[in-house]
Amino acid sequence: MGRGVAVVTGASSGIGAATARRLADEGFDVVVGARREDKLREVADAIGARAMRLDVTDDDSVAAFCEQVGECRVLINNAGGALGRDSVADADLDEWQWMYDANVLGVLRMTKALLPALEASGDGHVVNVGSIAGHEAYVGGAGYNAAKFGLRALTKVLRLELLGRPIRVTEIDPGMVETEFSIVRFHGDVDKADKVYEGVTPLTADDIADCITFAVTRPSHVNVDTMIVLARDQANASTVHRHR
Ligand SMILES: NC(=O)c1ccc[n+]([C@@H]2O[C@H](COP(=O)([O-])OP(=O)(O)OC[C@H]3O[C@@H](n4cnc5c(N)ncnc54)[C@H](OP(=O)(O)O)[C@@H]3O)[C@@H](O)[C@H]2O)c1
Repeated sequence: MGRGVAVVTGASSGIGAATARRLADEGFDVVVGARREDKLREVADAIGARAMRLDVTDDDSVAAFCEQVGECRVLINNAGGALGRDSVADADLDEWQWMYDANVLGVLRMTKALLPALEASGDGHVVNVGSIAGHEAYVGGAGYNAAKFGLRALTKVLRLELLGRPIRVTEIDPGMVETEFSIVRFHGDVDKADKVYEGVTPLTADDIADCITFAVTRPSHVNVDTMIVLARDQANASTVHRHR
């Protein structure tokens, strides 16, 4: 028997793509969204998912996407990321604005739009992909820290406000995961991105997809609240052991 519809945002790469694959394996009817339609379609075609263009920073795009979704039991708010590692003194306002829009308002837009369908399913579940950066500040992280701390506040309030209704709320907070994350953060500078993972065994997108899948496949009365998952080589947001 199917497990119902699972929507995964930001599924054209990294954690979102891996999660879409794992949820399809588990019997969910998966719907994926992201901006790069060619990459998204590749992910979707391999697992028989529905793919639709989605920009979580755009009200109209979110409305059009969610209208097409129809029934929905699980929403994985994964789309997001970081831009830059400037100090507060040198902060780029446009980058901060994008980080807040994608990581916080994007989750808000998607959640607002799909809450009625999640509730109507009788067993809804919202999973927000936060970060260790939402728990701990680090030098050069302020814009991303502010966004992921903000997301954590949203998640916590949502959990309180939905209490008594048939919708679970979970936040999965990874540390260092090797995806396109750092390439995006450093504006396409692959050498700089590679240095982030140099000498370290980072988490993979599949590791986080496993955690998300664990949370959404627990019995309905079990609400995994927050899961912080770091590589063995990473003790906290800014303390990393490098083998060489
Ligand atoms: N990698 C890490 O170390 C790490 C650690 C902690 C938390 N996270 C979080 O994990 C999530 C996934 O990141 P990732 O590591 O898998 O990085 P990634 O490979 O860069 O994936 C990010 C995904 O988000 C999508 N996306 C970005 N902006 C979007 C928008 N406006 N509308 C719709 N989709 C959008 C991207 O697709 P398009 O470009 O095609 O739209 C892509 O599919 C993010 O929320 C990130 O903050 C990552």
